Amino acid sequence: MKFERLRIQGLRCLTDVTVTLGEGIHVFVGSNGAGKTSVLEAAYLLSHGRSFRSGAREALMQRGQAGLSVFAEVQDESGGYRRLGLGRSGTRWDARLDGIDVPLGQLVQACAVVCFEPGSHALIAGAAEERRRFLDWGVFHVEHTFLAVWRRYQRALKQRNALLRMGEAGTNELYEPWERELGDAGAIIDNYRRSYLDRLLPVLAEGASYLLPELGPLSLRYRRGWADDASLSGVLAEQRGRDLARTHTTAGPHRADWSLSFEQAPLREHLSRGQEKLAALACLLAQAQLYANCRGDWPVVCLDDLASELDLAHQSALVDRLASVDAQVLITGTECPLPLQSRPHRVFHVEQGKIRPLL
Ligand SMILES: Nc1ncnc2c1ncn2[C@@H]1O[C@H](COP(=O)(O)OP(=O)(O)OP(=O)(O)O)[C@@H](O)[C@H]1O
Ligand SMILES: [Mg+2]
Repeated sequence: MKFERLRIQGLRCLTDVTVTLGEGIHVFVGSNGAGKTSVLEAAYLLSHGRSFRSGAREALMQRGQAGLSVFAEVQDESGGYRRLGLGRSGTRWDARLDGIDVPLGQLVQACAVVCFEPGSHALIAGAAEERRRFLDWGVFHVEHTFLAVWRRYQRALKQRNALLRMGEAGTNELYEPWERELGDAGAIIDNYRRSYLDRLLPVLAEGASYLLPELGPLSLRYRRGWADDASLSGVLAEQRGRDLARTHTTAGPHRADWSLSFEQAPLREHLSRGQEKLAALACLLAQAQLYANCRGDWPVVCLDDLASELDLAHQSALVDRLASVDAQVLITGTECPLPLQSRPHRVFHVEQGKIRPLL
């Protein structure tokens, strides 16, 4: 997928900017606080329906404005054009695809962006929720029924949690239909996630051996969120008493997690901060590569603050790798990263929320 044109209105310091993008590598340079990361945030918003930066969605809206909108013309894998739009007015989000109002899920299905940014190490070192989101984004783009099953699961989970909050008043008959539904939908989600990770692993192992050769071979451990040898509905019935005490459901795919282990760094705590970042980068690139293998086209790859995140050797290795595939790449930095100087790229200058093409 490639952005041909991106228009951003009312997002942080970007009042109304339009950027025209082409093939290959694009660099957004400018001083601190100029609005570079906000450009990537806008692209990511279309593909994830949220920002990669933590904090309330309200913070995205330009102070004093009642709404924001991001509009993009993209070229998809078959060479066709699509028009994507996401807007927020007041507290409402509206998604549009080719001029028609659509559910957010349909918009993000049509847009694929992966982003490596200063917070990406959380994929390795942060909470399990980050890793589930990563996993589910990948599954969502290759298994088209995933979203519907995931929603079924969320609905049943909400119902069971509501019963748990009622305390002892809930009877077996009230719990059973929801536990059966959680069991059925949960098993499908688990299968999708497992088969996605099975496909991701060889791609990730290859990428990690390129970015982190010193750590040796890698293995991936997946925990599905309940005992491997039991059905989820059985587990839920069995631990109802415990869940009642905690007033929420403590087993199921919403508690799943996965982790990486390297021969020379078996525990997460053995990794340096830089190695955490590189491991996260390897995961993101593997996800992008797997998307390309399945869909025949690369997602847009965003690299926020590349030069301050990686040392020169790793910047070069990454740029070489991305230049060898047909991906549109958006990079930000206070300066143009050195390894780009020997490669074709386009530069945009960002200053106080204005964007000007330079080369
Ligand atoms: N809701 C908001 N309304 C208006 N301005 C905002 C809002 N949120 C953030 N800003 C401002 O917008 C700019 C956001 O900049 P952004 O993070 O995109 O900068 P950057 O060019 O990536 O900077 P750095 O090099 O420091 O990473 C900052 O100047 C910030 O103060
Ligand atoms: Mg920034």
